[in-house]
Amino acid sequence: MAAGTPTAAPPSPPDDGLYAAVIRCHGGLEAAFAAHQEALLLGELALAGELLDAYRALQRVHIGFEDGQLLRRARQGGFDLRWPLRLYDAEHRKIEDLLDKVTKRLAALPADDEAALRREVLALLEVERVLKHVCEHHEAREEQDLLPRLDRWLPPAERSALAAAFAADWARALAGQAALHERARHRLDGLRFRRG
Ligand SMILES: [Fe+2]
Ligand SMILES: [Fe+2]
Repeated sequence: MAAGTPTAAPPSPPDDGLYAAVIRCHGGLEAAFAAHQEALLLGELALAGELLDAYRALQRVHIGFEDGQLLRRARQGGFDLRWPLRLYDAEHRKIEDLLDKVTKRLAALPADDEAALRREVLALLEVERVLKHVCEHHEAREEQDLLPRLDRWLPPAERSALAAAFAADWARALAGQAALHERARHRLDGLRFRRG
């Protein structure tokens, strides 16, 4: 498990730090994936595909920042971590692989056999359950250990500059998807389950 033994519990993270910026992003990712799953549940397959593409775009921004900045700087830091950096890297690759798999399964759903379609949607949800599970565990590792330790180790000016740059990239990515999410919300809120 650990590359090194933790020496102390991580301190409270600063409001302008990486922890605060990335945890907001994790919440946004969860909401974006939930929108995709709602569309899938309600049989809105084209919309589910659009929302999955949007979620993948957000994950690219998120993982790109973490690979290019957080893991790179943590490697330079050489401080003790509860989980080794190679695990974070491996989980990023696993998330990308699962997203590829989910995207391919969604695109390959049968068009003219409703019974087969229902079975394939259930199988797709099973793969998505694995993806959500990997993301939840991975994000918990970042939030409990990597991010608070990076916030503590980085010089305050660099820490706030990194966090602000990421927050700006994240806000831009979200803004680019606002119209899609508004359209999706309007469409999904107009659908009803049949209760009788
Ligand atoms: Fe990550
Ligand atoms: Fe993350």
